[in-house]
Amino acid sequence: MMRCMNEQENEAKTPEVKMAHEVKLEDIVSLCKRRGFIFQGSDVYGGLAGTWDYGPLGVELKRNIMALWWKMFVSDRDDMYGVDAAILMNQKVWQASGHVDTFTDPLVECSNCKGRFRADKLDDPDRCPTCGQKGTFGEARAFNMMFKTNVGPVENDASVSYLRPETAQGIFTNFKNVVDTIYPDVPFGVAQQGKAFRNEISPRDFVFRSREFEQMEIEYFVHPDKWEERFEHWVEQCKNWFTALGLPEGSVHELEVPENDRAHYSKRTIDFEFDYPIGREELMGLAYRGDFDLGNIQRLSGKSMEYRPKDGSASYVPHVIEPSFGVERAVMAVLCSSYWHDSENDRVVLRLPYELAPVKVAVCPLAKNNPELVAKAREIYTKLKKEIGVVLWIDSGNIGKNYRKMDEIGVPYVVTVDFDTLWGDTKDTVTVRSRDTTEQQRHNVMNLLALLGSAK
Ligand code: GAP
Repeated sequence: MMRCMNEQENEAKTPEVKMAHEVKLEDIVSLCKRRGFIFQGSDVYGGLAGTWDYGPLGVELKRNIMALWWKMFVSDRDDMYGVDAAILMNQKVWQASGHVDTFTDPLVECSNCKGRFRADKLDDPDRCPTCGQKGTFGEARAFNMMFKTNVGPVENDASVSYLRPETAQGIFTNFKNVVDTIYPDVPFGVAQQGKAFRNEISPRDFVFRSREFEQMEIEYFVHPDKWEERFEHWVEQCKNWFTALGLPEGSVHELEVPENDRAHYSKRTIDFEFDYPIGREELMGLAYRGDFDLGNIQRLSGKSMEYRPKDGSASYVPHVIEPSFGVERAVMAVLCSSYWHDSENDRVVLRLPYELAPVKVAVCPLAKNNPELVAKAREIYTKLKKEIGVVLWIDSGNIGKNYRKMDEIGVPYVVTVDFDTLWGDTKDTVTVRSRDTTEQQRHNVMNLLALLGSAK
């Protein structure tokens, strides 16, 4: 099978991949722009800080990551259910959750240049990083990061809403709906993917700290006595996720967050940090939220959030374990981990796992002016596209340059249709070139789908 062959080839021929922190962030940003993965938001008007647009390849990569997550944590499990809640929610949601009062970052302003900064992210807390003046910051003030808006044509206190700063609350507010319609046994989880918005004081480091980003969150409801063992279960699940993303062993670190650094709702938190080119930073978080959210909803809405076990035992408000994944930070970790400058072959390669690669295979007729050859290549392309989805057709440029282009966007295989495909003993065979090893092997067209399928 192709996968097995290539795994052996990889072991034999591919030099060690650099760890993500040894890669330069500017190389990733430049590749993303050049090849159509990620662009600055509103670029044509000079940009809008903290916003990013995904291009044709980026959107495929992002969707593949999100689809893999959904498969791993929802479809493949018996204890998980999905929801897709509205982004705009009743303002009471954010009062109950504590976001209106406490979702703040410390903001300082320089009296000299008027620059505004997040006080806890300054290298020197007393020196302005823009103008270099010392002692120009006043007292830090609490800046609420929620984007406020009004729902409907009247702007007053009753019409206030917010762009959600986390997807989690759309899960908590649907807890009762899920229980009353699905009747799940505890423990069970509810998952949601979608946009979140935070008015970050200093968005920075490419997509790492954005003002609009995407989350994939799970609220896993447990009996209060069982939270510790379920928490450990989710630590293991998070590690499986990092492996599925292809993050190198040793590049993700567990940080037990001390009490005074934890979010207002959390009784235990582990931050999983990744060695990004910008340093070791949070990739995702795992928090024990107790009954903070359901308890607050119960108080403010007056509706019971109690769960009644089917065996007739006492009702209780479930506690919650929350694995919270940021899509952008996963995208960035995957890009940085897979970026490889292969100096021996003078090429840049994105060694993306097959499942995440935006394009799985490219089909290339060796000569574009030979109708018979092009027709055969088209036939193969159409068949692969129908079965695999994103397949590229390349019929311009020289073959070597095309290989390099495909390497840079992480296409695992290039199928070349040449004159041997048309005639003689080699009729109906094509060359399959591997991205990771540059090895080329001849395969029968009939076996192509099985070969590529086995690479999943
Ligand atoms: N519901 C819990 C929650 O939202 P969080 O630690 O504030 O927890 C969870 O956010 C994850 O969302 C982070 O670990 C990170 O991956 C992602 N995230 C948070 N703020 C972000 C931002 N400004 N830009 C990109 N991703 C962000």
